[in-house]
Amino acid sequence: MPISLPTLQIDLRPGIIELGWGHPPLELLPVAAMRRATAEALTRYGAEALTYGHAAGPGRLIEWLCEYIARQEGVAPAPDELLITGGNSHTLDQILTLCTEPGDTVLVESPTYHLAVRILREHPVHLVGIPMDQDGLIVDALSETLAHLRRQGIRPRLLYTIPTHHNPTGVSLSLERRRALVELGAETGLLIVEDDVYRELSYDGPAPPSLWRLAPPGVVVRMGSFSKSLAPGLRLGWLTGGRNLVQRMAHGGLLDSGGGINHFTALVVAELCASGDFDEQVARVRTIYGVRRDALLAALREQLPPGCSWYSPGGGFFVWLTVPESVRCVDLLPLAERVGVSFLPGEHFFLDGGGEEQLRLSFSLYPPEELVSAATILGAVVRNCSRKR
Ligand SMILES: Cc1ncc(COP(=O)(O)O)c(C=O)c1O
Repeated sequence: MPISLPTLQIDLRPGIIELGWGHPPLELLPVAAMRRATAEALTRYGAEALTYGHAAGPGRLIEWLCEYIARQEGVAPAPDELLITGGNSHTLDQILTLCTEPGDTVLVESPTYHLAVRILREHPVHLVGIPMDQDGLIVDALSETLAHLRRQGIRPRLLYTIPTHHNPTGVSLSLERRRALVELGAETGLLIVEDDVYRELSYDGPAPPSLWRLAPPGVVVRMGSFSKSLAPGLRLGWLTGGRNLVQRMAHGGLLDSGGGINHFTALVVAELCASGDFDEQVARVRTIYGVRRDALLAALREQLPPGCSWYSPGGGFFVWLTVPESVRCVDLLPLAERVGVSFLPGEHFFLDGGGEEQLRLSFSLYPPEELVSAATILGAVVRNCSRKR
C-alpha cells in the first residue's frame, strides 16, 4: 500500500473556520507568475541556476532589492549591506548563532511572535520581555530594564522586535518611539533585530519608516521576507544591516559550505521581481487582505458583547482581541471549535504568563463572508461563556 506522507505544514479542518493560522491562502499564491519566472531563469542562466550560488545571493536579486528598498524608504543599502536569506525564521536563527554566546540576555516584546520564541529558546540565552501598548514597544520600559540589568552587570546582546504590523497585536510602533528606540540602541550598543515580515501588507497607506531607515549604521539589522508578499514556500528573504555584520554572515561557515541560500529560488524570484509581477502581486494581495481586515473588524463591532476590545491593525494578518475578564481564552477555544471557529489563545505569545483574556484572530485565509460567520459564532460563544461565570 503506498504511504501517504504530508506535503504541507497545516491541514485545515473541514467545518472549522481556522483563524489561528497566519498563512497566505493557497488561492492567492502566484503560481502562473512563478511558472513564467522559472522558465525565464532557466533560459537566462541554464546550468548556472543549478550550481552553488554566490554566498551573499545572486547579484540580480541584490540589485533589485537595493532599488526596491530605495523606492520604499528613500534610501538604498549598499550592495554589501544586503544579504539574501532563507526568510526571517532562518535569519533570526543565524543572527543568534553569530551574535550571541551562552548565557547572554536577549530582549523581546511582550507579547511577541510565539514561533520566534521557539527559535530563541533553541539558543542558550535568557529571554526578558518588555511590555507594549497600542503604540508598540514601550521604549521607556526598555530603557528602565536596560538600567536595571546594567546594575546587575548584565548587558543584553540584542532586542528582537516587530515594529510594523506586529504579530500578534497588529500594532505599529509610533514614529516618536521608533526614533527613541534607535537612539537608545545607538547609546547603549544594543543590537536591534527588526522583523519586517509584514511591511508589504500595509492597508492604510505606506508603512512607517523602518528602524533600519532611521538608525545610524550598525544599530539595526532588518529582516525582510518574501513569505507574506509572494509565497512562504519559497523560503526566501533578505537582510539589511551594518556592513560588518552582513559580511560576517556572508563569510560564515554556513554559506561558505553551501553557497548562497536557495540560489535557484533566488534567481527565479529575481526574474519575477524584474518582470513587474512582484509589484502586481503585492498590490493584489494588499487589496484583498485589506477587504478581509475591514470585514472582520466590522463584524467584530457588530457581534461581540460589551467588555471586548481590540486594536485596529494597519496591516499584517492579525486582530488581537481582549475578552471580558471572566473569560479565559484557553477555556473558550474548545467551545468555539465545537461550533466551528478556531483561534490562538493569547498565552502562546507571552514568555511566562499573561494573555489569559486575549486571543489572536488571523483574517488572511478566508473571504469576508466566512469572517463575518466566524465573528458571529465567536460573539455567541463569548457571551455564553461570560454568562456562565
Ligand atoms: C513576525 C513573524 N516573523 C517571521 C515569520 C516567518 O517568516 P519567514 O516565513 O520569512 O520565516 C512570521 C510568520 O508568520 C511572522 O509572523
